[in-house]
Amino acid sequence: MDKYYISTAIAYTSGKPHIGNTYEIVLADSIARFKRLEGYDVYFQTGTDEHGVKIEEKAKDASISPQEFVDNISGEIKNIWDLMNTSYSKFVRTTDKHHEEIVKKIFNKMYENGDIYKGEYKGLYCTPCESFWTESQLVDGKCPDCGREVKEASEEAYFFKLSKYQDRLLRFIEDNPSFIEPEARRKEMINNFLKPGLQDLCVSRTSFTWGIPVSFDPKHVVYVWLDALTNYITNIGYDPDGSSKIFNELWPCDLHLVGKDIVRFHSIYWPCFLWSLDLPLPKKIFGHPWLLMNNDKMSKSKGNVLYADTLVDKYGVDAIRYYLIHEIPYSSDGNITEELIEERINSDLANILGNLVQRTISMGNKYFDHHIENKDINDSDSNEFINNINNVYNEIRLLMDDLHISDAVTKIFDLLRISNKYIDIEMPWALAKEADKQDKLETVLYNLLESIRVCALLLEPFMPDTSKNILEQINNSNSELRYISDNIYDLNDPKALFMRISK
Ligand code: MSP
Repeated sequence: MDKYYISTAIAYTSGKPHIGNTYEIVLADSIARFKRLEGYDVYFQTGTDEHGVKIEEKAKDASISPQEFVDNISGEIKNIWDLMNTSYSKFVRTTDKHHEEIVKKIFNKMYENGDIYKGEYKGLYCTPCESFWTESQLVDGKCPDCGREVKEASEEAYFFKLSKYQDRLLRFIEDNPSFIEPEARRKEMINNFLKPGLQDLCVSRTSFTWGIPVSFDPKHVVYVWLDALTNYITNIGYDPDGSSKIFNELWPCDLHLVGKDIVRFHSIYWPCFLWSLDLPLPKKIFGHPWLLMNNDKMSKSKGNVLYADTLVDKYGVDAIRYYLIHEIPYSSDGNITEELIEERINSDLANILGNLVQRTISMGNKYFDHHIENKDINDSDSNEFINNINNVYNEIRLLMDDLHISDAVTKIFDLLRISNKYIDIEMPWALAKEADKQDKLETVLYNLLESIRVCALLLEPFMPDTSKNILEQINNSNSELRYISDNIYDLNDPKALFMRISK
């Protein structure tokens, strides 16, 4: 079985993750589940990023140790990932002892091969982002990432020779257009970072202690991004002294799924770190867009933050999964508000999906006492309908391969809409009144059940519980992702999938 390795960014343990951070794990989960559906042996890694000055300060404010602080938040993040029904293979933590040991060895190896050297860092430092910036990178004199004040700082530090890899990386990114996607992100990396030139990167800090110490100079802790990025290899058996068999099977990773704000770290620093370790680069870095709250960036200080657990309590897991996946397109930001969630639930989940399933099963139970077989009485509308059922898997596959996840889920809803239209055209209630149309009626219901079955199977990556629920109601375990002409349905009683929300 072919292996497929997908990772998410590892979330900071500085606070509870909002619905925007939660979007990423749900998106990754739908890709991982779809790959499993296609027959891949999927390894899906996620976890938490737990070191750095910001966390040290937050723990101090809370009068607990940094370890206690990150244990709490990491636990909270894992609970939310579980609440969202995400099927990760491994939840990693950068405070894990094994990770820390391998990071020390990685740092040593880079030092020994001459890619890390000792120097003095002077610059403008943004404390919340833990980043040094040059004057030209600032926006209105403030940190380009978070917009906050920066201050002059200098410290003895180790540097990584990023500049050494500049030409090689530019060539690599130009020669491999699918390495960074979407295209706008790739252009941004080339024009804003690679073409102006890479400066060596400061990869150690002495101003705080909550980090992985450099083993040969322990007053330094390893720069948080070097510590964090290496999670992708330390947790699958990479070891500078000899890696495991699993590492060789899984690496290079097929897809690093990250938010658009951290593409820079993944497509510039990370490749150079990997080359320094003589390792191949991941196959793809995809920088997904952001989820905005009422068209504005979510922030606690603005009080416009939504959390997954409150939304799930109110609307259910699959409604929120569907909303996130459907609402954020391939490369432009998506929007969330409770009104928009309710509109989607009513129009797509209750009307299009819920109604179709309930109507079809009810008619099958009423007209044929729960038992439906194909009588093969098809007209041209039915043949076209069957063609649509047969095409949907391939269409979705192409979209999923290109990471057009929102379009892929929309394709399923297109088929559900077509199925509702097929009911309107064939009018089963009218056929039911004519004694010589009983075989035709049974065929129409059979075709609808086949469409519902294929849609339910294809919904599994996006809405796993709903998929299971529908398959239980239609009581059929055939897993072919196309129209089958000799299925037999013994239907259960219908149960409403989604309740309409009245204003
Ligand atoms: N710890 C780093 C990642 C290190 S990966 C080696 C980090 N953590 S984070 O908690 O700030 O963000 C985690 C992920 O959530 C990132 O990919 C980030 O882009 C994403 N998002 C943060 N806010 C988001 C939205 N509002 N919408 C969608 N994704 C968002 O960065």
